[in-house]
Amino acid sequence: IRIEVVKNKKEGGKVAYRLIKEALEEDAEVFGLATGSTPETLYKELRESDLDFSDKIAVNLDEYIGLASDHPQSYHSFMQEHLFDSKPFKATYIPDGTAKEEVEVERYDKILEEHPIDVQILGIGTNAHIGFNEPGTPFGTKTHKVKLTEDTIQANKRNFDSEDEVPGHAYSMGIASIMAAKKIILMAYGENKAEAIDKAVNGPVTEDVPASILQNHPDVVIVVDEEAASRL
Ligand code: F6R
Repeated sequence: IRIEVVKNKKEGGKVAYRLIKEALEEDAEVFGLATGSTPETLYKELRESDLDFSDKIAVNLDEYIGLASDHPQSYHSFMQEHLFDSKPFKATYIPDGTAKEEVEVERYDKILEEHPIDVQILGIGTNAHIGFNEPGTPFGTKTHKVKLTEDTIQANKRNFDSEDEVPGHAYSMGIASIMAAKKIILMAYGENKAEAIDKAVNGPVTEDVPASILQNHPDVVIVVDEEAASRL
């Protein structure tokens, strides 16, 4: 794991942007994308750049179950607003939060098989989840339905009018699918991510700390601000 410590989230976005630019120069075609507050500055850099994604494919990590794609808090809406409206891709895939589990899991795994990910963008939960793979998720898991933990619901309620409105479940790409990406860029900012980053990088590789599996991946860059790096 290569660690890049930056001053703040804005600088982190610039570092991640340069890594994406390099990947494009090496003909990366399929980009695994994340939502949440962490990648916001990266997406801003991409929106304001002249990079061209019109022959590229985006495959997102996850979506809330029960939210239609046009719901303002859906990850579909997030991606439209933060990236896809200004940077069109040849194709974009996000799990369908209104589809039935059996159907959606199979559909999404097929998409991932057909479009192996070249570069995967990740954030990390305070409990070290990646995608919505919460602690305890077997490392071999592919796309699956997830019951969000109380930690995650608390962390995500800021985007909703009230806690009751945060969906309790999501569809998420599995850890096996994330690990199949050729290159992984994980970003983390702020003191509340420091413990998760330390455990992910220095702790034992264990399903209790989903991000610890990244120690077994050959090409991971972690971009952290000084606060998130403070326990390393
Ligand atoms: C989002 C995702 C999650 C987030 C994580 C951190 O698609 O898969 O793993 O990356 O919950 O969220 P933020 O960036 O909002 O702190």
